[in-house]
Amino acid sequence: MREQEGLCRRAPHKKDNSMNNARAFLLLLWGLTFAAPAFAAPDESQIDRGHQAYDKWCFPCHGTGLGKPGTDALKARGQNPAVLEERTDLTAPAIKTFVRHGVLFMPTFRKTEISDADLDAITAYLTRNNKH
Ligand code: HEC
Repeated sequence: MREQEGLCRRAPHKKDNSMNNARAFLLLLWGLTFAAPAFAAPDESQIDRGHQAYDKWCFPCHGTGLGKPGTDALKARGQNPAVLEERTDLTAPAIKTFVRHGVLFMPTFRKTEISDADLDAITAYLTRNNKH
């Protein structure tokens, strides 16, 4: 202990710096440990948010039941399952392209309607059962 105090007095800046570096490194590790999975695997709240946005914007055309033109069109094309929520083959980039550019009578959705964050949530919801 005594020896350490001596060191401290002789080279205080050096010791301070290495302490800061160690702290920064620990912070970085903490960030990697807890922040990275949030991007790699969406959490439940993200999927819930996506489910709500999907119900509002997509379900009227892509839902289950009668009179869902998106589901009907995909069924007619031979897509099985035709309901988007049951699929496991949709990728985030594909979903985003369809939503931002539209297809057939599916409209283009603007960012003022569906924000990027909402679209991220929708893709998290629609890819939740995909095999990774
Ligand atoms: C007005 C009706 C309508 C709405 C609303 C709608 N879609 Fe569509 N969607 C369609 C139609 C029609 C197709 C094309 C079906 C085909 O290719 O025969 C389609 C196709 C798609 C496809 C491509 C599927 C495939 O296998 O080719 C995706 C993905 C998709 N929609 C996602 C969405 C999402 C996500 C939303 C909500 C943000 C949405 N759609 C809202 C009508 C709609």
